[in-house]
Amino acid sequence: MKGRVFSGARPTGRQHIGNYLGAIQNYVKLQQDYECIYCIVDVHALTTLEDTDKLQENIREMMHDWLAAGLDPQQSILFVQSHVPQVMELHTLLSMVTPLGWLTRVATFKEKARLQPENINYGLVGYPVLMTADIVLYKAETVPVGEDQLPHLEVAREIVRRFNNIFGPTFPEPQAKLTDAPIILGLDGVNKMSKSLNNEIELAASPEETRERVMGAFTDPERKYRSDPGHPEVCNVWRLHHHFTKNHDQVDVIAQECRDALRGCVECKEQLAEGINRDLAPFRERRAALAASPQYVEEVIADGARRAHAIATETLREVKERMGLI
Ligand code: TYM
Repeated sequence: MKGRVFSGARPTGRQHIGNYLGAIQNYVKLQQDYECIYCIVDVHALTTLEDTDKLQENIREMMHDWLAAGLDPQQSILFVQSHVPQVMELHTLLSMVTPLGWLTRVATFKEKARLQPENINYGLVGYPVLMTADIVLYKAETVPVGEDQLPHLEVAREIVRRFNNIFGPTFPEPQAKLTDAPIILGLDGVNKMSKSLNNEIELAASPEETRERVMGAFTDPERKYRSDPGHPEVCNVWRLHHHFTKNHDQVDVIAQECRDALRGCVECKEQLAEGINRDLAPFRERRAALAASPQYVEEVIADGARRAHAIATETLREVKERMGLI
């Protein structure tokens, strides 16, 4: 039997190259060898109460990106979290075996609490418990994510261990699976690429928009003039070249020319924008075709919920039995 993979992502609308390189490319690859379940986590998105009026639109934008990137609804289950409400029941049940201290010490919780001091809600504290429920509802062993999700996965493993200890072996301990780009920094060259920081390059951007965004990227902060020797190892544009320059020897040539001040940052960014636009051209074509068939995307979403529902019902029954509810 094939092993099971689960991953989720918040409906932030159009996905960026950080989501793609950090997670989506693994979602696509894993489809060949695993039974994969991928979920757009709309309930998690409510922890920040941002853009709730755009939630439906954002879910669909994201599903377009996933499908255009190569997620195949014939092979994998693609669905929206709230369409399979058993996850909320399981969240409540798992919360009973989760000490509060495990949740309040999570760095992402502390960071969110700092960013939204006026809205430190209960859902924010329970975020990793809901994530655990997402994963174990489908008894997934492998969870492709970017590096920022590792602390949440650690909590998930702790909850699973505790549950299995108390009620007997029920869930596999989920293992994170990183890509070779576990964290992509944004155009500011300092922070993780993220829509909330407005430092992203969207996969679905037009070639012109992409070029404009890339030309605004920060490079080596110590290099003021073109005649100054550059430091590629601290430059995020050079790092991004690793993913969008086909020939890897070329990446070394770029670094040497930068160090020798033979190449300027403008030229370097132009080449990066070209590489991104070249690599994403087939994706963008597929995405445009999908946008012309909205009914198909609705069918994918409805079919995903149906298939996820069947597995979820089975697991929840088993959990209730083990916990003495049935
Ligand atoms: P989210 O929506 O923030 O991100 C979705 C996926 O993209 C990865 N990612 C990145 N990787 C590298 N560099 C970046 N700049 C970058 N930005 C985002 C994330 O690591 C993630 O894999 N809590 C999760 C969603 C979730 C989930 C789950 C994940 C809910 N339930 C169960 C796995 C399993 C989140 O907010 O991801």
